[in-house]
Amino acid sequence: MPGTFDRTRGRALTRAVSPDFSSAVSNFFNTRPPNYEAAKGSQEAYFAALRAHGTEVITLPAIPGYPDCSFTEDTAVIIDDKAVIPNLGHPSRDGEQDSIADFLSEDFEIVRMPKGATLDGGDVVFYDDRFLVGISTRTNQRGAVFLADQANKSGFDVQLFDVPKNTLHLTTVCSSPRPGTIIASVGYLKESDLSFAEEVVWIPEDEGYASNTIAYRDRIIIPEGYKKARRLMLDSGFSVTTVEMSEFREVDASLTCLSVFIG
Ligand code: GLY
Repeated sequence: MPGTFDRTRGRALTRAVSPDFSSAVSNFFNTRPPNYEAAKGSQEAYFAALRAHGTEVITLPAIPGYPDCSFTEDTAVIIDDKAVIPNLGHPSRDGEQDSIADFLSEDFEIVRMPKGATLDGGDVVFYDDRFLVGISTRTNQRGAVFLADQANKSGFDVQLFDVPKNTLHLTTVCSSPRPGTIIASVGYLKESDLSFAEEVVWIPEDEGYASNTIAYRDRIIIPEGYKKARRLMLDSGFSVTTVEMSEFREVDASLTCLSVFIG
């Protein structure tokens, strides 16, 4: 019998924005150079939103030479009492995970991925009893299969996806805010991809960035400025908090990228 993923979000492991943030990897949304000071302000607002929902926010210092280091979601995947530590899929980011592993080793069994396998935590979405794992420009087949084996050993089902080439991560285009529900972007995922879900809230393609959400039962955090998505969330029974994310969007990062939830 598969387990149910823990959605309590008691603690978020985060990392300060890098002073080199303007050099963060950016391939999809970029319209202008990102601003370090504005990103720090957004991150503070994001922390405040998490705290307002009861999450303890733990913030590690930025790592010199790693402009993307505040995107801790990519550096660990928690499966019950294990922390799977991947080899990150972009060479400029591989290495961010080492101090995360050191921190997590206090509370979790650390499972390192073998050489040659790559995965970003941003390609993993938790849906009730299963892990949805995207194969992308960052996560290769070996990485996805390694994670699938770890999840299966802990009693979770796994579904593999091909992440469309026009986006970075699986979490860029979908999230699961509450049991049974997926929020997904039109133009990136298809109904047939998500036939297992009890309910899919489809976000119009021009607001697809807002399909990445963080939810606490029926309270949801979405990015600021996505009116159609906000209306859809309200109509689906959520109360909505918004966080200004435009600096992070410039470097292809979404709300979930800024945390790894550790119980
Ligand atoms: N800038 C976020 C990433 O490319 O991983």
